[in-house]
Amino acid sequence: MKIAVIGRGGREHAIAWKLAQSAGTENVFCLPGNGGTANNRPVAESDFRGIREFCDSGRIDLVVVGPEAPLARGIVDELSGGRFRVFGPSRAAARLESSKTWAKQFMQRHGIATAAGAFFESPRAAAAHVRAQRGGLVVKYSGLAAGKGVFVCPGPAAALEALKQVEGRYGADAPVVVEERLEGPEVSIMGVTDGKSIQLFPASRDHKRLLDGDLGPNTGGMGAYTPVPDVDAATMAEIEKTVIAPTLGGLAEEGIAYRGFLYFGLMLTAAGPKLLEYNARLGDPETEVLLPALDGDLLPALLASFDGTLDRHPFSFKPGAVVDVVLAAGGYPGDLRTGDPISGIEEAGAQVFHAGTEIRDGVLVVSGGRVLNVVADGPDLGAARRKAYAACRKIHFEGMQYRTDIGAGEGRA
Ligand code: AMP
Ligand code: GLY
Repeated sequence: MKIAVIGRGGREHAIAWKLAQSAGTENVFCLPGNGGTANNRPVAESDFRGIREFCDSGRIDLVVVGPEAPLARGIVDELSGGRFRVFGPSRAAARLESSKTWAKQFMQRHGIATAAGAFFESPRAAAAHVRAQRGGLVVKYSGLAAGKGVFVCPGPAAALEALKQVEGRYGADAPVVVEERLEGPEVSIMGVTDGKSIQLFPASRDHKRLLDGDLGPNTGGMGAYTPVPDVDAATMAEIEKTVIAPTLGGLAEEGIAYRGFLYFGLMLTAAGPKLLEYNARLGDPETEVLLPALDGDLLPALLASFDGTLDRHPFSFKPGAVVDVVLAAGGYPGDLRTGDPISGIEEAGAQVFHAGTEIRDGVLVVSGGRVLNVVADGPDLGAARRKAYAACRKIHFEGMQYRTDIGAGEGRA
């Protein structure tokens, strides 16, 4: 089987790495890939025609889409119907991520455990509602915003400010969701689904803030770990009952065929687990710990999702823990320092998934904000963490920065 993985991040490097190990795999191509992936082809995620041409001429059998942007734009609808299969949700199904309004209304229609929320067609329309509230609020621009459209506010005054920011950034007619602010640790649950059954990965957690102790600005993710000690079997059972099962039931009831990875972003509140968001894809950097934890093949589950046999492909996982420390570029998440050479990966003694790297004149250099994911496993979180950090200390590029507490504490996302 020939496979094309669409995307260029650490998540896509991990997906390509895992699929390359499958007995059924002949070759994995990355479009466009990064400095660490093999068999790259210079076709952007947004170039659907270029992707189709490559897949037709290269006799690709399966396309796996990594990031949200092409899914939201309908890459699966555009490429389906040819001689190759495309693993990912359709544009309509991907609304679970691409429209926070649609997703929240879906949660409400199906009684899914989530924060109370209200919907507005513009920031101005939301202002009157916000003024009438008390307590913490969360203001969300409804569209895809790469994590920059959500404002967690202590009260109405800050929420009104947030609405102004939404208007400035996304326009006077930007649809908005206003939610009650929940409190508690966050956790990510992901799986492979065909819309009827789902095969779940263990719980994982990412670290969104730049600095140790969950301080500093928000980022795309500075590291991740699995499993999550505070998600015990009882909590997991509750999440399945109050969030995952009603989601699949709702999709079936509404006739939405969802095939792909599905991500549940949850908060563990005093009143039980609540769903904050769906993503129509795997999380990054969570994927970089989940796929190394997976014992055995990923490919059969992906293929089974096309045949209605996914329920026969339960995942099993290695014992122990996996930790991913992200090495970020100088200046990240602001103005980046790029172009510097990277050394020490070979000697690091850990699995390294690349993200913001490229090969320039034969040299591996920094080309993006999150540069490398340094991933290590161990019998427990502490051992995995020590191994990951020992590896980080062997890698070098100018300006390199990373958190020193990934997997060390309660770690909010
Ligand atoms: P979202 O993209 O909807 O997951 O929101 C991004 C982040 O905002 C989440 O990971 C949480 O940290 C925070 N957040 C979102 N909704 C809420 C909520 N209702 N209460 C508290 N924090 C939230
Ligand atoms: N790690 C969170 C995300 O991928 O959206």
